[in-house]
Amino acid sequence: MQTRILRLDPQNPDPVAMDEAVRLLRSGQLVAFPTETVYGLGANALDATAVAAIYTAKGRPSHNPLIVHVADISQARELVTHWSSQADMLARHFWPGPLTIVLVRAPGKLPDIVTAGSPTVALRVPDSPIALALIQAADIPVAAPSANTSNLTSPTRAEHVMKHLQGRIPLILDGGPAKGGIESTVLDLSGIQPAILRPGLISREEIEAVIGPVSMPSHIAHVENDVTPAPLPSPGLMRRHYAPHAPLTMLPSDQTLDTILSLADKNPTQRIGWLRIQTNDRPPPPLSTDQLIIVEMPTTPRAYAAKIYDILHELDQANLDQIFVDAPPSDDPAWHAVRDRLLRAAQ
Ligand code: TXA
Ligand code: MG
Repeated sequence: MQTRILRLDPQNPDPVAMDEAVRLLRSGQLVAFPTETVYGLGANALDATAVAAIYTAKGRPSHNPLIVHVADISQARELVTHWSSQADMLARHFWPGPLTIVLVRAPGKLPDIVTAGSPTVALRVPDSPIALALIQAADIPVAAPSANTSNLTSPTRAEHVMKHLQGRIPLILDGGPAKGGIESTVLDLSGIQPAILRPGLISREEIEAVIGPVSMPSHIAHVENDVTPAPLPSPGLMRRHYAPHAPLTMLPSDQTLDTILSLADKNPTQRIGWLRIQTNDRPPPPLSTDQLIIVEMPTTPRAYAAKIYDILHELDQANLDQIFVDAPPSDDPAWHAVRDRLLRAAQ
């Protein structure tokens, strides 16, 4: 299969290209499209065969459920048994936006494969004119995971999607780089207590400001404690995830340089990448650019999130042997999602 990329103005997508994408989606084919977080790989969520093709294209384990993208609250409500007042407050506050809400799914609406047999469904309204126009014009809910090979780094550009899925899907809508850079927060509202299943661009504090206390199950609390994540109940939260090809190690920032220098000393042919959080007092290390590629990372969590996958994709092209990352501060909740992704990339 030939994969086409159609370049679009994100604010004013070309109607002919959009028609083509809508036609493909409605006929059961896959279309990759930009969202404000990362690129998604979309299929008609009402069509079990189309959804099955997502799992095949990504090499995704069949037990990992998909997020269903909808155009608005009313479309979300149709897919669940009970649209709770918490869901309503959060949706009004954060949608369109990077918050995914898990609720008990309505019987008979979605094929089981979308939710991997789970009695719940994950829903979100993406904050991207292209994604919204696509869902609206197709007039269907769109199941879409990140448009990458399972467990590898999620795509923030159409080229990243091409690298992973070329020949496996007919169309990629290219709306330029995704602004958010990491995935949505997944919040489970199907139980007694709201619980974050995946930290993301919307923080626990922002959610709590709207609905009050939200729990952070122990399987993701590792991010605060800097220990290896435990095996996880949700398969989408597998330990090794979001990973580049080269092994990645996160270290306290005052240890990274010494570690790199001693490694380079032992093995001068190693090619090393260093994602450095800049501090003014560090002299440049005495290594050639063949040995060490330094990437200066932003010092604020939002800017860091916007860049991290992009940089990891770039470093994948550089065929490095090892990547070291300065750990972002562990005591600041605003860094939670970024630390989560780095820890999983490091497994
Ligand atoms: O930002 C995002 O969320 C992107 C864009 C494309 O929307 N999508 C994304 O999808 O990251 P994916 O499939 O890569 O991650 C979805 C996460 C997985 O961790 C999955 O296990 C979880 O959501 N999930 C989906 N449905 C669920 C459900 N019913 N219950 C619990 N977790 C669910
Ligand atoms: Mg993913």
